[in-house]
Amino acid sequence: MSMQDRLEQLQVLRAKVQSGGGEKKIAKHHVSGKKTARERIDYLFDPGTFREIDVYVGDVTNNPSEGVVTGYGQINGRKVYIYAQDFTVNGGSLGVIHAKKICNVMDLALKMGAPIIGLNDSGGARIQEGVEALNGYGEIFFRNTIASGVIPQLSVIMGPCAGGAVYSPALTDFIFMVDGTSQMFITGPQVIKAVTKEEVSMEQLGGALTHNKTSGVAHFMGEDEEHCLDMVKQLLSFLPSNNLEEAPCYAVREPEMDSEELLDIVPDKPQKPYDVKKIITAIVDGSEFMEVLPVYARNAVVGFARIYGQSVGIIANQPSFMAGSLDINASDKISRFIRFCDAFNIPLVTFMDVPGFLPGTAQEFGGIIRHGAKVLYAYSEATVPKITVILRKAYGGAYIAMCSSSLRADIVYAWPTAEIAVMGPEGAVNIVKRDEIANALDPETERERLVQEYRDNFANPYVASSQGYVCEVIDPRDTRVKIIDALDALSSKREIRPRKKHGNIPV
Ligand code: HXC
Repeated sequence: MSMQDRLEQLQVLRAKVQSGGGEKKIAKHHVSGKKTARERIDYLFDPGTFREIDVYVGDVTNNPSEGVVTGYGQINGRKVYIYAQDFTVNGGSLGVIHAKKICNVMDLALKMGAPIIGLNDSGGARIQEGVEALNGYGEIFFRNTIASGVIPQLSVIMGPCAGGAVYSPALTDFIFMVDGTSQMFITGPQVIKAVTKEEVSMEQLGGALTHNKTSGVAHFMGEDEEHCLDMVKQLLSFLPSNNLEEAPCYAVREPEMDSEELLDIVPDKPQKPYDVKKIITAIVDGSEFMEVLPVYARNAVVGFARIYGQSVGIIANQPSFMAGSLDINASDKISRFIRFCDAFNIPLVTFMDVPGFLPGTAQEFGGIIRHGAKVLYAYSEATVPKITVILRKAYGGAYIAMCSSSLRADIVYAWPTAEIAVMGPEGAVNIVKRDEIANALDPETERERLVQEYRDNFANPYVASSQGYVCEVIDPRDTRVKIIDALDALSSKREIRPRKKHGNIPV
């Protein structure tokens, strides 16, 4: 063969690989509102930076790319690895070589210390390849686990993701789903009908809303594919490339709100709710707050922001939802977020307004003791800078759990509205002043008087600050400046713990 012939042969192979499942299948794919694997990659990466690897691996003629495109490139100028399953090729099903390609790109990402993104769009294990395909999943799960806490792993669900295949995304740090075109489930509607007689649609069972709102499996929901991929880029901007690096610093942007507004957010009456996100956005750079799990366990708010250009993980109780109490789901949401931030050197800023752990048999039977313990464990374990701002209620075990000084918060500020006590005034008075109230001529008036007395004496920040549990009671308008100071002071923090294989968080 002449060189010319060889080049022509190469052109043919290249074209075959690029064409994926062919025009017909691509057209069908587009009709369902989905981009192809290569179009998604083009959208995600900085123009001209994507480099495909393992291009000609496998059966190029009958199974181009083996149903998965892998490689690396730049997103906002930073190196990122990717695999993108191609549903137009045998439904993106995962056979042996498909799995090997994913494993290879995961190994490279880990070696280079760069984040890895998986774009999932697959019918699952390639049925024709049997147990070997299942083994391929096992190899991926193992790598997900080994890479956990070393490089950020992001999963984007852009089509079906069924059966055991869901466990790779579940092992990664964050899951994104596209509204209306992505589903995750262990067993599909037909199997469910056969086993439990329940009737449920694919979307109800495992659509983006279900997993963002009800199960808490997915962290972000895009209106469409482009919105979803835009969120992936935004999230990456807050993260370091690996656990040995710091997150990138950006130019400082002042918040879009005037700090004076902070004086009017917390209502005078302690029973009244307010939206803690107003406080967060009034404090962070450019008022940009990327909330994680925004519609799940809304009594807690977690997410990323920048303060003076530096990435921080924000955790807050949300008084406008279930009074900001801690329940099972909020505890899981908070503790997993803390552990991600700690693994990737992202300082934690906690805004506390918590009346307690949620009472009730549903919570107790569901294991609130075990789940709530995760919050205590995760905060105690975290060695990144920890800054706590007590806005209002800080009661009982929940006060301790939300990064109090005893769990080694480095700096605790309190607003003048803070109430730090074993329990709320009403509950406390009913217990310790029971006899006085019962014996009073007018028990109700006496109860009110005692509640006010308790509030005056105990439900304020000054008892806790006199005992050293609060560093400083601050003017709310100074909160941003105080956090900037604290982050600066803590930038050289090093905290060494006893050596161990690993702890035993109450999972
Ligand atoms: C081989 C598959 C496949 C699979 C789809 N295809 N899934 N080929 N193995 N798992 C092929 C189809 O035969 C078809 O080929 C093409 O992909 C497109 O599929 P369609 O069915 O035409 O597409 P659609 O109607 O959109 O339906 C998509 C689907 C459906 C809902 C995903 O294909 C489906 O139910 N597939 C099986 C899902 C499943 O049960 N997988 C196993 C999960 S268990 P042609 O040639 O006709 O275009 C699992 C175990 C993992 O994955 C365990 C890990 C430990």
